[in-house]
Amino acid sequence: MVENSLSPAAITDNLETRFIGQRVICYPRLTSTMDVAKHKAQQGAIEGTVVIAEEQTAGRGRIKRAWLSPKGSIALSIILYPSSVYLSSLIMVASLAVVHCVERVTGLKSQIKWPNDVLVNGKKVCGILIESDIRGNIVDYAIIGIGINVNLRLSDFPEISPTATSLSHELGKDVPRLDMIRYLLVETERLYLALPSGESVYQEWRDNIVTLGKRVQAISGEATYKGIAESVASDGSLLLRQPDGSLTKIVAGDVTLRE
Ligand code: BTN
Repeated sequence: MVENSLSPAAITDNLETRFIGQRVICYPRLTSTMDVAKHKAQQGAIEGTVVIAEEQTAGRGRIKRAWLSPKGSIALSIILYPSSVYLSSLIMVASLAVVHCVERVTGLKSQIKWPNDVLVNGKKVCGILIESDIRGNIVDYAIIGIGINVNLRLSDFPEISPTATSLSHELGKDVPRLDMIRYLLVETERLYLALPSGESVYQEWRDNIVTLGKRVQAISGEATYKGIAESVASDGSLLLRQPDGSLTKIVAGDVTLRE
């Protein structure tokens, strides 16, 4: 695999966005783009600033999990200053943007596994992490972190290959990361700007969730639930029908498909 490094100029050149990706900072190697984006947000970086790393040495996922992001993958964080009413919708915006981007650039169909994974052929190809700082009802900043396994040879990463895949593996050839990033930024902005206009982002997100209708095990904090993932609410939580007929709302957690 030979691909040029990503450059801010190549990403921002004629990018059809108003603010997301109009300022891009690229690093060859970083601990985590989340840490740098958080620092930049605290310093008042303009909304839509994007921090990208060719490689992360301490990439992180939800629930303090490590996130592997070697060269060839996409690791980026987007700084936003949303109203608190849109905070729970950011995961919908980001995961749908990834689904659209994967299909547009590779032709592959992908699906969302609640709450924050994007799968291709049933295996994880992307993880999304949203971190925010809120004071009272005011969001100081929110950061959308997106990691995509783009051009990775799975045999080099046996620790993830049982459950994860890469776009190049599924497609049988390398995928242009520059096209992926540019389209991802355009789609993220389009969906983010659509939030005030109503239900469409939530509905499309719900329609793309592979988890729904399936028997699942959900772990939320110390509790484990088993049942059928019946639906998702507009605040992003999962509605789980338990064997006793009760409906449990799971706000944050991790889900395993049991079929
Ligand atoms: C998960 O699957 O739990 C979320 C993974 C999120 C990974 C991305 S890569 C870019 C950004 N920087 C990080 O350290 N994490 C996110």
